[in-house]
Amino acid sequence: MSNTRYAWAAAVALLYTLFCLLVAWHHARRRHAAQRDAAALLDGLPDAAAPGPRWCVAHASQTGQAEALALQTAQALHAAGLPVRLLPLGALRAEELARIDHLLCIASTYGEGDPPDSAAAFVRHCMARDDIDLSHLQVGLLALGDSDYARFCGFGRALDGWLVARGARPMFERIEVDNADPAALQRWRDELALRVGSVDLPDWQTPACAPWLLVDSRLLNPGSLGQPLHHLVLQPAGGPLPAWEAGDLVSIQPPHLPDQARDYSIASVPADGALHLVVRTAQRPDGSPGRVSGWLTATGRHGDTVPLSIRPHSGFRIAGNAHRPLLLIGNGSGIAGLRAHMRQRIGQAAVQGRAPGDTPPLWLVYGERQAACDRPFADETACWRAEGWLQREDRVYSRDGGRHRYVQHLLADAADDVRAWVEGGGAIYICGSRDGMGREVDAVLKALLGEACCQALQEDGRLRRDVY
Ligand SMILES: Cc1cc2nc3c(=O)[nH]c(=O)nc-3n(C[C@H](O)[C@H](O)[C@H](O)COP(=O)(O)OP(=O)(O)OC[C@H]3O[C@@H](n4cnc5c(N)ncnc54)[C@H](O)[C@@H]3O)c2cc1C
Ligand SMILES: Cc1cc2nc3c(=O)[nH]c(=O)nc-3n(C[C@H](O)[C@H](O)[C@H](O)COP(=O)(O)O)c2cc1C
Repeated sequence: MSNTRYAWAAAVALLYTLFCLLVAWHHARRRHAAQRDAAALLDGLPDAAAPGPRWCVAHASQTGQAEALALQTAQALHAAGLPVRLLPLGALRAEELARIDHLLCIASTYGEGDPPDSAAAFVRHCMARDDIDLSHLQVGLLALGDSDYARFCGFGRALDGWLVARGARPMFERIEVDNADPAALQRWRDELALRVGSVDLPDWQTPACAPWLLVDSRLLNPGSLGQPLHHLVLQPAGGPLPAWEAGDLVSIQPPHLPDQARDYSIASVPADGALHLVVRTAQRPDGSPGRVSGWLTATGRHGDTVPLSIRPHSGFRIAGNAHRPLLLIGNGSGIAGLRAHMRQRIGQAAVQGRAPGDTPPLWLVYGERQAACDRPFADETACWRAEGWLQREDRVYSRDGGRHRYVQHLLADAADDVRAWVEGGGAIYICGSRDGMGREVDAVLKALLGEACCQALQEDGRLRRDVY
């Protein structure tokens, strides 16, 4: 190559490096600004004696959508010059309600018309009471839901009913959002604008999907009786890998269709250098593959572009449990969220130079169908066990002949160990199917630990679920 060509190649490489650094710097600046703004909204409620209106935005969220909308709402009010605080609904009590005069609630519904886990404490400590007087309070309610469920916006409606029954005055009629319907969200913004002036913010829209490349895909369960389970690896199509934490989700937009996005639990941490997912090919009633999972897991997809956004999922993050023993319970594709937590714990300990013995223990309880073919990430967990990172691993199989055995049976058999784990300060993370596992695990934990203990664990953030 001539000298001129070398010079050109070096110049292009330099420009590209500068471009990447600029993109990374821009992302970091926006992240820091967002963190600073969010922190300013969490400073505690305004003084009741302070003059002028006192606003609070409260969110009841399971998978993060209501929480993200609440943050945007609070930021918009803050930008309009109002004294506003942002809180999870579960952190509000009668005393806090007495100290504000405007309450905006953004509440989703989970289970079958149930409150999200993060609102359980509010239901128990406030909504169970009929002696709280809220006649000083003006309220606005945004209820998130999905009309495919029998009890559409069940919790939002119950919360609205309770607030009004306690004397609170609605600023406007409750707004119900079916599957993130943009028209309903626009009505919310319009109502806010009417009351506080302009609520325009650049980030007000739900985070846009960015293009990612599918760089690897592997069938995890060849020969299984169950539907195919795939391990997918993705890289951003441009720019650096964004930040996320174990527990977070991605939303994937169906290709070429105006349809709602599907959520998937992230199975890796940024230190892995890529975003990993574990996707089960869903089967529709007519036998055809699920729209998004079928598309993602079809053969020959390598190099395809996947429109994806990362969703912080505070309800399933490690938060205050970073130094606690973890009992990780899951089935099927639920290994994704549990694997991310194991990788985060082990990766961070290794970076800090801590030995396995100096790290709080991990216990994995995982259910699938057949031992011969349903052992996702078994090599990895065997390695962690041998090195002492993973203290205990119980895999249970339901279709290996004899009695069908599921994770809840294993937990019942290990009752004393589960109790000891919790008494020793442990936290419990549950990830996977709601109908096939989540419900039964809830029931068995209540039987083993008692209902009051499970409620306390949930309120303390020591019992966390990502079940779907
Ligand atoms: C918080 C969260 C985390 C998740 N994490 C994961 C994960 O890590 N891995 C994973 O594999 N999945 C995960 N899911 C599930 C995932 O979001 C999708 O729901 C799943 O992949 C199916 O989507 P699909 O587009 O492939 O199927 P769809 O085409 O939407 O079909 C899904 C199901 O809907 C039913 N259905 C569809 N159409 C009809 C119809 N016309 N009539 C009757 N019934 C119908 C069928 O039962 C079918 O199985 C998660 C879900 C949530 C909410
Ligand atoms: C497991 C599960 C159960 C749900 N149950 C209901 C329900 O009973 N009624 C309803 O209207 N929406 C239901 N939804 C839909 C959610 O309320 C809706 O997706 C909402 O936007 C989620 O907001 P969040 O991310 O803040 O939790 C359910 C969603 C999931 C994943």
